[in-house]
Amino acid sequence: MAQSIPSHEHILQLGFGFWGSKALLSAVELGVFTELAKKPANAAELQSRLKLHPRSVRDFLDTLVALGMLERDAQGTYRNTAETDFYLDRTKPSYIGGILEMANQRLYRFWGGLTQGLQNGKPQNEITHNEPDLFTALYSDPDRLETFLKAMTGVSRPTARAIVAKFPWREVKTFCDVGCAQGGLTVEIARANPHITGIGFDLKPVQPIFEHFVRENGLADRLSFKPGSFFEDPIPSAEVLVMGHILHDWDMDEKRLLLKKSLEALPKGGRLIVYDAMIDNERRENTFGLLMSLNMLIETNGGFDYTGADCVGWMREAGFRDAYVERLTGTHSMAVATK
Ligand SMILES: C[S@@+](CC[C@H](N)C(=O)[O-])C[C@H]1O[C@@H](n2cnc3c(N)ncnc32)[C@H](O)[C@@H]1O
Repeated sequence: MAQSIPSHEHILQLGFGFWGSKALLSAVELGVFTELAKKPANAAELQSRLKLHPRSVRDFLDTLVALGMLERDAQGTYRNTAETDFYLDRTKPSYIGGILEMANQRLYRFWGGLTQGLQNGKPQNEITHNEPDLFTALYSDPDRLETFLKAMTGVSRPTARAIVAKFPWREVKTFCDVGCAQGGLTVEIARANPHITGIGFDLKPVQPIFEHFVRENGLADRLSFKPGSFFEDPIPSAEVLVMGHILHDWDMDEKRLLLKKSLEALPKGGRLIVYDAMIDNERRENTFGLLMSLNMLIETNGGFDYTGADCVGWMREAGFRDAYVERLTGTHSMAVATK
């Protein structure tokens, strides 16, 4: 009997996954979705509106159709899908392309250093290209800073909504969002809970962007900003502290220090919420969490992602009690613990 030969398709699809990824990132960079949100167009119109060379425009647009990012009708008119129209039109508040712009400008080339990073354990971003470290590089350019902080809001929104729904906020009057960025989660919690006041704590350059966003949302009477560094300054005190996408940026000693400082900042009975793209305890399923951890190799000196069980263990070690993990979205979980 002839032996059946396994398929090679999955291997090749994954191996050339960067082709599709870069086609999408270039489409965001060129503003394809923003242009089509104004008005659907055929290939020739789009070529002229986007100032593209004629050679590959059809291949580029049809690739985006095949990837499920655009639709094309029988007349050859291209339009956004419902998803790309909602999330990738720069003029809409629901735009999340900022994080893809950052991936295109920075991560795409830095991931080219993955093999080297795996061999020497060192970051492969601005730090190796003789530029300042991640946050300094982002924050030295006001436009890049604003893009990054807004992108964090867009991309963290589903997680923020789940935290609002799954934590018992009615039992709480004050909270502090530690490393709040633009304040996506801070605003979401305050908006859903009129009885609560909150603090956004982050580095000084973040202040005007946070305050503008809070004013835009009409929450300036209940939300304030406290500038500072969670390594050099005390963490502000509140009944609940939230740390989202913070612990994974730092090495084990720094993670321990942040947990210790959180415990010190909380009153007795106060709670800490940590959320990240936590890896499943078996380390087999949450591909996004595992790749995020490799991204921390590319981006930071010692950061790494971790499982829910890891986090609960560190929280107990720091002196917290009643620690538990709850799933928030397909990729993200939160760990909650009490002082
Ligand atoms: C990856 S972002 C997470 C933002 C937000 N919590 C979220 O989940 O969308 C990390 C945040 O930590 C802040 N950060 C970095 N170093 C810090 C420090 N030493 N003290 C306070 N905040 C810091 C950054 O400015 C940034 O806003």
